[in-house]
Amino acid sequence: MINFSKIALAAASLAIAATSAQAQDSVKIGLILPMTGPQAAIGKLVDNGTKLYMSQKGDTAGGKKIEVILKDDGGVPDNTKRIAQELIVNDKVNIIAGFGITPSALAAAPLATEAKIPEIVMSAGTSIITERSPYIVRTSFTLAQSSTIIGDWAAKNGIKKVATLTSDYAPGNDALNFFKQNFTAGSGQIVEEVKVPLANPDFAPFLQRMKDANPDAIFVFVPAGQGGNFMKQYTERGLNKIKVIGPGDVMDDDLLNAMGDAALGAVTALHYSADHDSQANRDFVAAYKKMFGQRPGFMAVGGYDGMNLIYEALKKTGGKTEGDALVEAMKGMKWESPRGPMSIDPDTRDVIHNEYIRKVEKKNGELYNVEFQTFPNVKDPGKTKK
Ligand code: PHB
Repeated sequence: MINFSKIALAAASLAIAATSAQAQDSVKIGLILPMTGPQAAIGKLVDNGTKLYMSQKGDTAGGKKIEVILKDDGGVPDNTKRIAQELIVNDKVNIIAGFGITPSALAAAPLATEAKIPEIVMSAGTSIITERSPYIVRTSFTLAQSSTIIGDWAAKNGIKKVATLTSDYAPGNDALNFFKQNFTAGSGQIVEEVKVPLANPDFAPFLQRMKDANPDAIFVFVPAGQGGNFMKQYTERGLNKIKVIGPGDVMDDDLLNAMGDAALGAVTALHYSADHDSQANRDFVAAYKKMFGQRPGFMAVGGYDGMNLIYEALKKTGGKTEGDALVEAMKGMKWESPRGPMSIDPDTRDVIHNEYIRKVEKKNGELYNVEFQTFPNVKDPGKTKK
């Protein structure tokens, strides 16, 4: 049975917590990420991005001291919800941020609405997320942005038969559906469709089915952190004559070198490559390598840009932390990210950025996703029409 008095009490304490948080001198950000468990690679990258940003820009914005409270949800949405509640009620945070995977971002949405505080999604990529609360603003990406573009590209570039392998949860379904829609509209054909579990998947049995379907290419979505393991099993199962295409998550820059030559020639669409040719990105990659001893992946950029969004919004409000004012300040904001130009869609609060089609090539002995085509200012194609 639903306990309404308990819900009312929780709602009231969230509202009171949010009001008292506004009177503080510092701005508290509750950063909720999977720092342990199967999605820990994502949490690490996002956290690194936020740490790099603060090391460069200092710990004040809009005249307020910025305090980040990092909490590990292990990528379990029930934990995300409990932690978000504790951060709002006990720690009196002004903003919640992070959210490694879609189920976590969704779990926190009602709390952001109740407490009227911004929820900054730095990592998760399912289109529906920003529609779940008017306080959600996203600096990561959507799978619909990358998957529509690679679907068109495949249909126009001689690929006729595709077998798909996608992680069996919301972003995997977005990736599959948006790819299919554009690829089949361009007269491509799906010859095999397999879905793999999100946590610690064994790809081997699925790969045999993909191989048997004898496709021209395989379309793959696995979340950041799993691409290395996928490519290892793809090579072991003897699929390496079959081209890999997809959203760029599978060819994540921080794992790419370890994949070896099997990755060469993979064509993917994404908003970020460590090889992106701009001064902002060269500076970002150099600073990241210096601080963490390795190449950044795209999840680090979502964390870095998420902090920029918060800092710039605080500057605009003159340090005012009231949730509605912050979200208003974030709408329509534009800046130069390591990914290229980006902005926040004032209508949807979702990210608008370039999508790049890239091919894995060797440059100075290292593997890179080398961008060869740019689609400027791509809005999320996955928003439901109102
Ligand atoms: C998600 O759960 O939304 C997610 C996680 C990792 C990705 C993409 C999407 O690479």
